[in-house]
Amino acid sequence: MALPCAGLPRWLNKDICKMAVSMTELVEAASVIPVLTVGEVSQAAPLAKALKAGGLRVVEMTWRTEAALEVMQAMKSAEPDLIVGMGTIRTPDQARASMDAGADFLVSPGLTPSLSSFLPSCGVPVLPGVATAGEAMSAVEAGFEVLKFFPAEQAGGRSYLKSLYGPLPDIRFCPTGSISAEMATDYLALPNVVCVGGSWIATKAMVEEGDWATIEANARLAAAMG
Ligand code: 3PG
Repeated sequence: MALPCAGLPRWLNKDICKMAVSMTELVEAASVIPVLTVGEVSQAAPLAKALKAGGLRVVEMTWRTEAALEVMQAMKSAEPDLIVGMGTIRTPDQARASMDAGADFLVSPGLTPSLSSFLPSCGVPVLPGVATAGEAMSAVEAGFEVLKFFPAEQAGGRSYLKSLYGPLPDIRFCPTGSISAEMATDYLALPNVVCVGGSWIATKAMVEEGDWATIEANARLAAAMG
């Protein structure tokens, strides 16, 4: 039997269309999220297979290339069990287009008034970017559950997140921005960090060179962190 939401975009039909992934499932599936920038659709399948073979279950494609939407779809086709989100979302139109293309979750580098009103009830989990205590408080007030702390290292890193935990112990973060494999474990040890993201697992250069073996090895190390 067809689902009631069959054929309709999830953002349009969020009341009757069951979300594929909840925020709880998302953060449980991902301690480390590779942040990907991919220019060629042909790179999608081998990349998805390498990340999956390394044991990762959640990935973020960034909308930083013209092919981003198509690459995201190709990754999902190649590895249907992979939870694939779209990042670098800057407008509600980009959010709608990503969900129409099948994005399982959305990530934004920051929040604007239009994103703050559209994203909390869009129908998929969203990690909105914040860099200060005030931005974090506003995001939670708008209805977001888990926040991307960005750019993590430049905005104060682990000591900043530790300081936020005192007054804001209930706010949970996914830090991203210049995080290395070595730093990731320390971030994950913080009580207000539920996952970390970064490009170190599959850099743009590794993808362009087709270095799937290194990507798989990095994914395996990242998967072992959580
Ligand atoms: C981003 O959205 O750019 C992420 O924070 C990835 O940052 P990184 O390339 O510094 O890991």
